[in-house]
Amino acid sequence: MARRKLAAGNWKMNGLSASIAELDALIENASGAAAEVLICPPATLIAAFAARAKDGGVVIGGQDCHAAVSGAHTGDLSAEMLADAGAAYVIVGHSERRADHGEMNAQVHAKAEAAWRAGLTAIVCVGETEAERNAGKAEEVVGNQLAYSCPDGATGSNMVVAYEPVWAIGTGRTPSNEDIAQMHGFMRAQLVFRYGNGGNEMRLLYGGSVKPANAAEIFALSDVDGGLVGGASLKATDFSAIVAAASG
Ligand code: PGA
Repeated sequence: MARRKLAAGNWKMNGLSASIAELDALIENASGAAAEVLICPPATLIAAFAARAKDGGVVIGGQDCHAAVSGAHTGDLSAEMLADAGAAYVIVGHSERRADHGEMNAQVHAKAEAAWRAGLTAIVCVGETEAERNAGKAEEVVGNQLAYSCPDGATGSNMVVAYEPVWAIGTGRTPSNEDIAQMHGFMRAQLVFRYGNGGNEMRLLYGGSVKPANAAEIFALSDVDGGLVGGASLKATDFSAIVAAASG
């Protein structure tokens, strides 16, 4: 199975109802794109975005979910709620969740299973800190996160992995192309070892300061199947250029 490239936008804590204008522009620009196009807006906008994007060739996702179906968890959202609002994907284990909310691999693992229970595709995020890379531990850290965050039963259609070096997120810095390709090759080997051919079918995204200017060269690297994009996904003009790079 050929892996279809995925251009995923992570809006983080940005966007009000007026931001639907950016979605409209993206739907127009991305129509007919070869790449799959995903926007993960804040949860307050999922239902409106999903309704608007339904026939527009853009899919909508959440940025996090609770592992339980329902219950006494004030402020949390279940994967079922995201699905009910029209989401098809959910990001789990983003480094900002791991850092700001103390999420550990076991929780990320449970959230990925919750995503599947609700029929969502899980985007599992992994990535080393700068100190870990400088200590020569990047592969060890990422290998560990993969092993403990990804549940058994992962396939090319229910899981995407995003490699996001923490030091590259929102900083304008990226690893060298060689380092990205090396890490993606390492992750591919780990996933194939564990999941067999399913590991070949999973999409591996690169994330961290992807911009229109660097997207095409990064997406052309072997085992890079698209990007998870923060800042540059907020403006339809920038993200459309990234979608075009993923489609090229
Ligand atoms: P960035 O964020 O593109 O703004 O670096 C990426 C991410 O955190 O997913």
